[in-house]
Amino acid sequence: MQIVRTREELAESVAHLKREGTLALVPTMGALHAGHLALIAEAKRRASKVAATIFVNPTQFAAGEDLDRYPRREREDARMLEQAGCNLLWMPPVDAIYPDGFATTVHVSGVSDRWEGEARPGHFDGVATIVAKLLLAVKPNVAIFGEKDFQQLVVICRMVADLNIPVEIIGLPTVRESDGLALSSRNVYLSEDERGRAVTLQKALNGARDAILGGQPVASALREAKQALVDAGFLKVDYLSLVDAATLEPLEERRGEMRLIGAAQIGATRLIDNLPV
Ligand code: PAJ
Repeated sequence: MQIVRTREELAESVAHLKREGTLALVPTMGALHAGHLALIAEAKRRASKVAATIFVNPTQFAAGEDLDRYPRREREDARMLEQAGCNLLWMPPVDAIYPDGFATTVHVSGVSDRWEGEARPGHFDGVATIVAKLLLAVKPNVAIFGEKDFQQLVVICRMVADLNIPVEIIGLPTVRESDGLALSSRNVYLSEDERGRAVTLQKALNGARDAILGGQPVASALREAKQALVDAGFLKVDYLSLVDAATLEPLEERRGEMRLIGAAQIGATRLIDNLPV
C-alpha cells in the first residue's frame, strides 16, 4: 500500500492505479475499526483498486466538540488498511485541504437541516465540502460509505446528484459489536459502565421498530423507546424518530420506506444509531 500526503503524490499514484482498472474510494477520519474495514472489503468487491483517506476534518466539528481529542492512530490505521488489501492511503495535512484564503462551502439544504444538522450546526456543510473535495481530488468510480451515519449518506447522495459528480455512491449496513452496539471511533470515550448501558440505544430502536411493525401507534412506540434511554441513564435524547428514508422528514404513521434514527448522550459522549424499518 502506498501512503501519500501531498496532492502531487496523490495525483501520480491515482493515475497509476487507474491504468489498472476501476478505483473505489473509502473516506474516513481514522481510528479505524471493523466497520471501516467492511467498507474496504466492499470497495475491493466493487473495483480493481482501493484508495482510502484519513483526514480528521476540522470544518465538520462545531466549537466545543471533540476535534482536539478525536482519536488519532495513523500507524495502526495504516497497518490495518494494508492488511485489508487497500492499495493507496491519502493522509493530507490540514493546509493542503484548506489553504489560506479557502472560502467555499458546499451546503445541501433540506436533508441537512434536521436531526444531526440541528444538533450540530454547520456539521453537514463541513461533511459535504470535504467529501466533494475528496471525490474531486481522487475521482474514483465508486465511493463507499456506512449507513451508521445514515443522514450523512443521504446528504452525500443528494450532493453528488445535484453537482453531477461522476461517481457511484454505495451505502453499507452498520457493523455492530456482538451485543448490538454500533462500532464507532467515539466508543473509546465510553467508561466501562457507560459502555454497558450504551447498547440501550440500539435496543430502544429495535423495540420501537418491533412495536411499530406490530401496529402500535408511532408516537407511543417512540415515547417508550425514549423512556428506555432515560431509564438506562442517557442524559439527553436529541431525537428518536421515525423518518422517511429518502427525505428524512418525520413520519407520524407507517408509510413507504422508513428509517428509525436516534441520537442521545451518555456521560460526555454523544451516540447515534439507526435502523431500517
Ligand atoms: P468516519 O466516522 O471515520 O467514518 C468513515 C466511514 O465509515 C463513514 O462512511 C461511516 O458511515 C462508516 N462507518 C462508521 N462506523 C461504521 C460502522 N459501525 N459500520 C459501517 N460503517 C461505519 O464519517 C466520517 O468519518 C466523515 O464524516 C467523513 C465521511 C470521512 C468526512 O469527513
